[in-house]
Amino acid sequence: MKTVRTGGPLRRQLDEWRRTGGRVALVPTMGNLHDGHLRLVQLAREHGERVVVSIFVNPTQFEPGGDYANYPRTLERDRRRLRGAGADLLFVPEIATVYPFGVENATRVRVPGLSDELCGAFRPGHFEGVTSVVLRLFTLTLPDVAVFGAKDYQQQVLIRRMVDDLHLPIRIVTAPTVREADGLAYSSRNQYLTEDERRIAPGLYETLAGVARALADGDADHAALTRRAMHELAQKGFAPEYVAIRRAADLALPEPGTRDLVVLAAARLGKARLIDNIRTRVPL
Ligand code: PAF
Repeated sequence: MKTVRTGGPLRRQLDEWRRTGGRVALVPTMGNLHDGHLRLVQLAREHGERVVVSIFVNPTQFEPGGDYANYPRTLERDRRRLRGAGADLLFVPEIATVYPFGVENATRVRVPGLSDELCGAFRPGHFEGVTSVVLRLFTLTLPDVAVFGAKDYQQQVLIRRMVDDLHLPIRIVTAPTVREADGLAYSSRNQYLTEDERRIAPGLYETLAGVARALADGDADHAALTRRAMHELAQKGFAPEYVAIRRAADLALPEPGTRDLVVLAAARLGKARLIDNIRTRVPL
C-alpha cells in the first residue's frame, strides 16, 4: 500500500489505474480507524478494483473550541490496519493540499435545510464542513465510488444529496453499522467513555431498538414514542439531545403511509457524544 500526501502523485497514480480500466473506490476517513472503518474498506473492495483511503482530520467540521486539536492521530497504527484490510493507496493530505487558499478563504458547499436539523441543530456549521471537505476529497481523487458508514446516517444522506444536486458522477455506497457484541456501534468517540459509561453506552442502541420494534408492531404515535425514548435515555444516565423518527430515504418528516423509517438519536455520555440509528419498516 502506497502513501501519498499531495495532489500530484495522487493524480498520477489514479490516472495510471484508470488507464488500465480499474474503478477507483474512495473511503474518506479522519483516521483513528476501528473495525467499522475496515468494513468500509472491505465493501469498497467489492465496488472498485482500486481502493483509496483518505485520512484527513478536517478542521472545518469541528466546533470552535471542540476536540479538533485533541482528535486522536494514530497514523502508524491506521496504516498497519489498512494494509491488512487490502487498501491500495493511503492519501494523507496536509491542510494546504486540501485547502490551497487557506481554511478561512475556502469555497464552501452547503446543503440547505437538512444540514441544520437533527445533529446539525446541535452542531452548527458541522455538516457544511463535512460536505465541503468531502467535495474536495472527491475533486482530488475523482473516484467512481465512495463508501460511507450508515452510523453517520445524516452525513451520508447529505452527501448523496450533494452528489445528486451537483451531478457528480460518483456512486455513493452505504455500509451497514458495525457493532460490538453488546450492540454499541463502533465509533472513534467510544474511547472517551470511562468504564462505567462504557457499560451504559449500549443502552442507546437498546432504546432505539425498542422504538423500531414498536413502529414495526404498528405503533404510529411518533411524538409519544420519541418522548418516551428521551425519558428512557435520561433514566439510563445519558444526556439525550434528540430522538427522531424520519423517512429513511431522505430524512424528511414521515407522512401517513411512509413505510421505510429510520429512528435516530444523539446523546451525550460523559465526554462522548454518541449517535446511532436503526431502520425499520412499518406495516401497511
Ligand atoms: O465521517 C467522517 O469520518 C468524516 O465526517 C468525513 C466523511 C471523513 C469527512 O471529514
